[in-house]
Amino acid sequence: MYAVEISIQKIVGNAFEGLIEDYIENRVGELDNFLDEDLSKNLKENLLLLLAEKQFKAAGIGNNKKLLKDKSIRSDLIYWLNRDRNNIHENSFFDHMDAFVIYLNKTCYTGITGYEFHYAYYDEGSSYKRHLDQFNDNSDRAFSMIMYLNENWKSEDGGELCIYHRDSSQIISPLNGKCVFFKSSELEHEVLLNHKPRMSITGWLKTN
Ligand code: OGA
Ligand code: MN
Repeated sequence: MYAVEISIQKIVGNAFEGLIEDYIENRVGELDNFLDEDLSKNLKENLLLLLAEKQFKAAGIGNNKKLLKDKSIRSDLIYWLNRDRNNIHENSFFDHMDAFVIYLNKTCYTGITGYEFHYAYYDEGSSYKRHLDQFNDNSDRAFSMIMYLNENWKSEDGGELCIYHRDSSQIISPLNGKCVFFKSSELEHEVLLNHKPRMSITGWLKTN
């Protein structure tokens, strides 16, 4: 292997390590620049294209069997990602996630066997009320991951992710390239009202 490839793997491995260490210490892993600037930008452009083509759907609450659509609980629009679209940027996102899953399984014996990811678009004035990411009748979702695609996000734009711990809450701004990682069965959280369109990729690492 070439030296440059080895050093790239080291950098990526170190980034994964930082996210996982933060998760172990604080129950929420947070990492800036988990997606590099170019990838974030390209994914955001794809998202906006799909949105303009009216390919996004109102997100539901619950799973397939009893999918409920209630805008007062959740008002984002989503589009499920899929390798079969053969989109070069989305597939390099999936490559990145594959590398993360391999790293996580190897270092933490997590036994992740799959994942699902969607784009999310919160038009201004949207929110997602306090909830848990696991459905009552299905525990496949082991970890939640959210990656933000918002350049120049300012504190007055709102749209923070608020995570509820036992005695405190944690506020996270949806900054470009940032990744948030936590156990899906454990932490309730909420997306606060945003005053500017807010974009992300959200997904779950799964076991079965
Ligand atoms: C979700 C969610 C958080 C965020 O989609 O389930 O909680 O910050 N998203 O977008
Ligand atoms: Mn959630």
